[in-house]
Amino acid sequence: MINVYVPRDTASISMGADDVAACISALSTEINVIRNGTWGMTYLEPLVEVETNNGRVAYGPVSVADVSSLYAAGFLNGGDHLLFQGLTSEIDYLKKQERLTFARCGLIDPLSINDYKENDGFKGLEKALKLSSKEIVDEIITSGLRGRGGAAFPTGIKWNTVMEAEAEQKYICCNADEGDSGTFSDRILMESDPFCLIEGMTIAGLAVGATMGYIYLRSEYPLCKSILKKAIAIANINNYLGKNICGSGKYFDIEVRLGAGSYVCGEETAMLESLEGKRGMVRAKPPLPAHIGLFGKPTVINNVLSLASVPIILDKGGDHYANYGIGRSRGTIAFQITGNIKRGGLVEKAFGVNLGTLVNDFGGGTWSGKELKAIQVGGPLGAYLSRDDLELLLDYEAFSEVGAVLGHGGIVIFDETANMKDQAKFAFDFCAIESCGKCTPCRIGSTRGTELIENQDYELLEELCDLMDTSSLCAMGGMTPIPVKSALNKWPDDFKD
Ligand SMILES: Cc1cc2nc3c(=O)[nH]c(=O)nc-3n(C[C@H](O)[C@H](O)[C@H](O)COP(=O)(O)O)c2cc1C
Ligand code: SF4
Repeated sequence: MINVYVPRDTASISMGADDVAACISALSTEINVIRNGTWGMTYLEPLVEVETNNGRVAYGPVSVADVSSLYAAGFLNGGDHLLFQGLTSEIDYLKKQERLTFARCGLIDPLSINDYKENDGFKGLEKALKLSSKEIVDEIITSGLRGRGGAAFPTGIKWNTVMEAEAEQKYICCNADEGDSGTFSDRILMESDPFCLIEGMTIAGLAVGATMGYIYLRSEYPLCKSILKKAIAIANINNYLGKNICGSGKYFDIEVRLGAGSYVCGEETAMLESLEGKRGMVRAKPPLPAHIGLFGKPTVINNVLSLASVPIILDKGGDHYANYGIGRSRGTIAFQITGNIKRGGLVEKAFGVNLGTLVNDFGGGTWSGKELKAIQVGGPLGAYLSRDDLELLLDYEAFSEVGAVLGHGGIVIFDETANMKDQAKFAFDFCAIESCGKCTPCRIGSTRGTELIENQDYELLEELCDLMDTSSLCAMGGMTPIPVKSALNKWPDDFKD
């Protein structure tokens, strides 16, 4: 039998991967089609791979119309073709990455627990089961891991607080709301390597003494939901979840809960309200969720990628992870390059690479071929950067020094046709739609902001931005001025009539 891999993630399926898989399958009874996850090279999807004696050979992007010519060119033996990309492992886009968290994505069948185990799966959990809670937490502190959801808070410190809290019941909540524009790394991880998230959450449970975990998943990810539910069931049957994890007598279980399409429900306290079945309104802090969280109990809230980084940290050690990165930004981060870009996709790199490397070396410049104008990093509340910022290092502190944020690693590219006044207005409009309405600076300020831009009252706009920055209850209103001010400061001409 010849193994042919056709990805089964949302992006590939949206580009016709299911039809391509069926078409390849019909070519010969000698073909075994395996539906793997994605490597994250979105610009090549659907990326079809054939297992040869030299390794997996890649072709992409493949459509149904290409299948007969691929067959004629002998793709089942790695033959040459217009879509031939060479050995998958040698594709520059992939080869230049440092894959720790995403090491298995694309490589394995996401729902094969054997594939997972054969590729270092559950090694971190097996190690964690031999350690005390404090030893697990110390390993995470050593790794220097900071929250990948946006706020970059040290994960080990958060876990330590929940570990030290005294309560009969504690929870692990995984934030899979992934609402930032231009982001899809959580989705790729959950669709391509769901056991990794399950393992990370279970280790978190062992570390802090929690027996129940919830994945708060955005409803726009139906495929993710079905893959996660199947993976949870498989992990339960195989004793990697449930009453007797790996025969240790320890208990941990996970449930998937769906959001309802609200950006602010990604904010951790609004997420807790939503998980409790209430309207997603932001809670005032303190108390911190680590003390009084879900159903009033001490709760760890972490992003998908923070939790999915935990298995490799436990397996290879906190020091190994901390060896990647610069300054206080340790380990790797998953960048997602989107918008007006030739080669969009996911790039996992150690912190410290510069913006230009991602936009030009990986991304290949603008899709339109027109001049690059703006790069929004960190979601809809992130700063707009310009061509002058391409040397900027991707590091939490370097970004903060220039008034920008790395957020969840989304990088959205705009060419010279973009109008930055429109983009600034969009920031306020977005805030007005998504605001939970609890505090005045955000609820009212967002609408006034749009009006001030329309009326070109930029002096009052600066004042409004300062007010929202200092007086909003959460980062939704607090960060909306970031894209507005960066657009105004860098492209003042766009704001003239
Ligand atoms: C408006 C708003 C939306 C947010 N959306 C998300 C989200 O979709 N996913 C996420 O992980 N964190 C999101 N966050 C950050 C969370 O509040 C929180 O910091 C994070 O889930 C903590 O996990 P971490 O420490 O692992 O990053 C959002 C924050 C704000 C203010
Ligand atoms: S800043 Fe906006 S989203 Fe946050 S609490 Fe205030 S009204 Fe709600």
